Amino acid sequence: MAALIVEPVMGTGGILVPPPDYFDAITDICKRHDVLLILDEVITGFGRTGRWFGMEHWSIRPDLVSLAKGLSSGYLPLSASVLSDPVYETLRDGMPEGLPFMFGLTSNNHPACCAAALANLDIVENEDLVENARRVGAYLLERLQKSFGDSPIVGEIRGVGMLAAMEIVRDRETREPFPNLADPAWIAHTAFDRGLIVRALFQCIAFAPPLVATTADIDRMIGILEELWPEAERRGDGPRR
Ligand SMILES: Cc1ncc(COP(=O)(O)O)c(C=O)c1O
Repeated sequence: MAALIVEPVMGTGGILVPPPDYFDAITDICKRHDVLLILDEVITGFGRTGRWFGMEHWSIRPDLVSLAKGLSSGYLPLSASVLSDPVYETLRDGMPEGLPFMFGLTSNNHPACCAAALANLDIVENEDLVENARRVGAYLLERLQKSFGDSPIVGEIRGVGMLAAMEIVRDRETREPFPNLADPAWIAHTAFDRGLIVRALFQCIAFAPPLVATTADIDRMIGILEELWPEAERRGDGPRR
């Protein structure tokens, strides 16, 4: 039996948001070839994309789902795997008579971590943080577009909810990346020194503000980037390192 593992929005690859018909197409291929669809919601789960789960943006029906980070917001380590009924029943029916369901992960079930997750999920729900992620995330994207959309070193600006990325390019037309990754890394290091955490992901810089972030927090983030941007553009003009 084969399986395909995908993230609803690829995180480390540079916050890649698939087009609307992408998951219909791969679900169709998986069904036709009897391939299980495993959805990795480790980054996208629990509100990060402005919906409770990334899969809701595309109505994906996965066979298995992996969950972690947002489950406890990282306060204590916890992960979970969710199985569809047919997968669960297949595993259960394959067990020798009399044994309990054998399924274990290193970071599941610890009572203190589960208590932290329940408390975390209460906060996410009661403070409407999924809706906050949708609303403030849309504002982040708008502000990035407004402040950096015309910069000669910026290619695509993309995102969903509290996940966004800007491509740092050598040529806006062709979106040719810089020949090395020093420039996104320079931006990330310089931003860090000024109090802003962004991540250099290959030729992108990526943003994942906390779900509680406000539009004022986003303005502050953008302000820090605007301050360092002239220098980032000058570096882009110089001879390639
Ligand atoms: C999308 C995604 N999947 C899986 C993992 C790995 O999760 P774990 O460290 O819980 O195995 C990560 C870790 O950052 C991740 O970002």
